[in-house]
Amino acid sequence: MSTSRPSARGLFIAFEGGDGAGKSTQAGLLAAALQAQDRVVLRTREPGGTPIGEKLRSLVLEHGQGDIDARTEALLFAASRAAHVQQVIAPALARGEVVICDRFIDSSVAYQGAGRSLGTDVVRRLNEWGTDGLLPDLTILLDVDPRTGRTRRTSGQAAEDRLESEPDEFHRSIRQAFLELAGREPARYLVLDAALPQQDLARRIAARVAELPA
Ligand SMILES: Nc1ncnc2c1ncn2[C@@H]1O[C@H](COP(=O)(O)OP(=O)(O)OP(=O)(O)O)[C@@H](O)[C@H]1O
Ligand SMILES: [Mg+2]
Repeated sequence: MSTSRPSARGLFIAFEGGDGAGKSTQAGLLAAALQAQDRVVLRTREPGGTPIGEKLRSLVLEHGQGDIDARTEALLFAASRAAHVQQVIAPALARGEVVICDRFIDSSVAYQGAGRSLGTDVVRRLNEWGTDGLLPDLTILLDVDPRTGRTRRTSGQAAEDRLESEPDEFHRSIRQAFLELAGREPARYLVLDAALPQQDLARRIAARVAELPA
């Protein structure tokens, strides 16, 4: 399977990390910083960004859909991502835009591969097939202690979805899986301690992104 994308000219940046790590906060700050430099930025999120993806997202994440077994869950996320890449991400990259994506393949590897014990390699292969091999140029991993993430989320009083409400052990295995992915390909990752102040994280992220080829 090829991981090159000769037709794409833009820049693809993904934010990964556990629930409440600060991904959406930092994705927003990075988008604003790049827009201030006159870059065209598309900010999107996983799993979603397309009408079919949004439907699949609510099937997986909302309570009350009945039992969803782990393989079905993994396939629904992979299908949502395939649509997202085909309809949103790849066209934006082909237009030369910067795509900032809130979660991508690594989240499936961590949540379904490790968290649901389906196996990280098989979930990675399934998703790389779904995205036709498209990978981020840079993945920013916000490494968060699951308890910190949970406290941050509940202090915002947002209701927990199906995955967020899993026990701490599930979230610890996810954290480990993210770190293993980053450890395998250090050149394509920036790993940061999510406990750092927001502005400090934003500065480090902007500095790393500035090193990427324009
Ligand atoms: N570096 C930080 N230090 C302290 N609090 C933070 C930091 N970054 C974000 N927060 C706060 O933590 C909460 C969760 O942040 P955010 O929504 O960005 O996380 P997320 O990773 O996108 O979460 P989710 O996985 O639920 O989408 C928010 O209330 C946010 O203001
Ligand atoms: Mg978020």
